[in-house]
Amino acid sequence: MKKTICSLVLLLSFNTSMAQESVDNRQMIEMPPETKQLFLSKMRGHMKALDQIIAALAEDDLDDAAVIAETTMGIVGTGHGKKWECDDSDGDHAHKHDQSEHKKKGFGKLMPAEMKAMGMSLHSAADDFADVARQGGRGEAYKALRQISSSCVACHQSFGVK
Ligand code: HEC
Repeated sequence: MKKTICSLVLLLSFNTSMAQESVDNRQMIEMPPETKQLFLSKMRGHMKALDQIIAALAEDDLDDAAVIAETTMGIVGTGHGKKWECDDSDGDHAHKHDQSEHKKKGFGKLMPAEMKAMGMSLHSAADDFADVARQGGRGEAYKALRQISSSCVACHQSFGVK
């Protein structure tokens, strides 16, 4: 009897979480095909970076993990006048070349402010992660990595592209 109740409770909570999963309240951002392609390929780059960071942490290569995070997703490490699409600041540091790129395919101008802010919080989480990883402890580094992955999740729950 106890077992039956137990499975019933499990089944019910499973069903509830499935129902929640299927509710899609995302705001869909319209992008021209070329822009969407660029956006999604950046995303796949983020996924790859995340995978490489996890691999480096697993090997206890904290410095490598820091460099990967910084150079693929960080604001500071990507430097050299490069400007993230999510960056809303006026950016006198933005390259002329970068700006013409933006005009052509940039998705930054299509992203609502809230989405850009989520993007920037990913980039600063990557810089924070790099700092923490360089200071040593793997446990702390994992916690800081979670700040990165939860930025991915937050934006994916709120936005989509079409
Ligand atoms: C600012 C918002 C935002 C952030 C931050 C973000 N993403 Fe995305 N990502 C999106 C959107 C929007 C899509 C398109 C989803 C859709 O339309 O179903 C997407 C799609 C993807 C895809 C699918 C790519 C494809 O080819 O279809 C991957 C993989 C991905 N994101 C990985 C990540 C990872 C990993 C992170 C964090 C390191 C991340 N994203 C952070 C907004 C974001």
